[in-house]
Amino acid sequence: MKVSVIGLGYVGAVTAVCLARDGHEVLGIDLVPTKLKLLRAGKAPIIEEGIDEITRAAAESKRLQVTDKLDEQIADCDLIFVCVGTPSAANGSQDLTAVQRVSEQIGTALKDCTGYPVVVLRSTVYPGSTENIVKPILEEHAEGAVGEKFGLCFQPEFLREGSSVEDFYNPPFTVIGTECKKSESKVRELFESFPGDFVTTSYSVAEMLKLTCNAFHALKISFANEVGRLGRSLGIDSREVMGLVCKDKSLNISSAYLRPGFAYGGSCLPKDLRAMLYLAKTHDVDLPLMQGVQPTNALHIQHAADLVMSSGSRKVGMVGLSFKSGTDDLRESPLVTLAEILIGKGYELRIHDPAVNLARLMGANKRFIEDTIPHIESLLTDNLAGVFEHAEVLIIGQNHAELPVLLGGRDRNTLTVIDLVGVTGGIVEGAAYEGVCW
Ligand SMILES: NC(=O)c1ccc[n+]([C@@H]2O[C@H](COP(=O)([O-])OP(=O)(O)OC[C@H]3O[C@@H](n4cnc5c(N)ncnc54)[C@H](O)[C@@H]3O)[C@@H](O)[C@H]2O)c1
Repeated sequence: MKVSVIGLGYVGAVTAVCLARDGHEVLGIDLVPTKLKLLRAGKAPIIEEGIDEITRAAAESKRLQVTDKLDEQIADCDLIFVCVGTPSAANGSQDLTAVQRVSEQIGTALKDCTGYPVVVLRSTVYPGSTENIVKPILEEHAEGAVGEKFGLCFQPEFLREGSSVEDFYNPPFTVIGTECKKSESKVRELFESFPGDFVTTSYSVAEMLKLTCNAFHALKISFANEVGRLGRSLGIDSREVMGLVCKDKSLNISSAYLRPGFAYGGSCLPKDLRAMLYLAKTHDVDLPLMQGVQPTNALHIQHAADLVMSSGSRKVGMVGLSFKSGTDDLRESPLVTLAEILIGKGYELRIHDPAVNLARLMGANKRFIEDTIPHIESLLTDNLAGVFEHAEVLIIGQNHAELPVLLGGRDRNTLTVIDLVGVTGGIVEGAAYEGVCW
């Protein structure tokens, strides 16, 4: 293929030389003369394992040409990769000046294009940037529409400095956000020999994915380091602890607990997190990340309560009360906390949880209800249909086999559903449906 790569920093230089190595004809564009001079001489402008050899071969093959002119030369390219920087501004926001500038130049250069070139934004940008910034600038300057005259994608780059060549050829997956099939098939053609799944999604999901991945990596590093600081103060080797944590591929290093939904609770997570934080406190170890966990969980419960309150109705039904479905354990259930917030505000609540059958409850759970939440006991009913009849707002805190039928039979204009678990999508839609965080 014929491709151009705009911005020859870490991402762009690796992309340009690797694509030239793979046999593509590459035009690299950057403003910095020394970078261009180095590349012309077959030398890499960055230090990366394996890049020197590939750059030398790319220059010798003549498949890599470089220039500082972003003009009509790019119009007959199949793909135009944008890899310019998006640094932090002083207030932490993303500086999109370079992306905007090159979008104007690309648009102008594509004014007379005929071959449907596809612009692929690889710079990391805010969700919404491709749709609301890049697309209108390109269309204005090219005097033509995305999907008609040229294509547009956002393709997050997952390479890491230090192993970028290796990462370029072994991405975890290839994800493109696009709204046009032709763009998808051109990008797919270029990357089809790469390992990992090829996923097509919307611009904004692909953009948010990249920010989310990096936030997650930063979170993981900081979590491991907090375990490390606590371990050190206790004389425990945290590398061994974390090594064993990572050995558990079913709950720890897996997709478990990573689905947006409702708050955590139950008899273990809150208690043991508190114990960990107390231990840190008694050893004068500050763990701000772990200290932030309980407040964000509480905020999430309050957010659900706010959704109910903003519905304007006072008759509330709740499906589920224990901390997760399939258990009758009510200790530290976030649904109990949510119920208490609503009761405190004077909402008329009816609750059904098939696992919390008052007649069958025994031991610790029975005592917990009688001693700690007697005010909730009277709101519990075994009759789910009765909860539906009462409710103008229905909180789905757990899945229930009868939900599809009961929801399907209910007049949409008289019920707002607040879904905390993501089970009712498709049954109820539009204004009558609120997902807790989707
Ligand atoms: N560095 C990484 O490991 C990495 C990984 C994934 C994604 N990203 C993202 O990719 C983007 C690029 O990152 P980078 O580290 O390669 O940045 P960089 O700063 O190393 O390179 C950016 C290049 O763009 C050039 N440039 C700026 N304005 C230009 C213009 N108008 N015309 C032509 N060239 C221009 C600069 O001269 C520079 O060489 C960023 O959005 C970054 O967040 C970086």
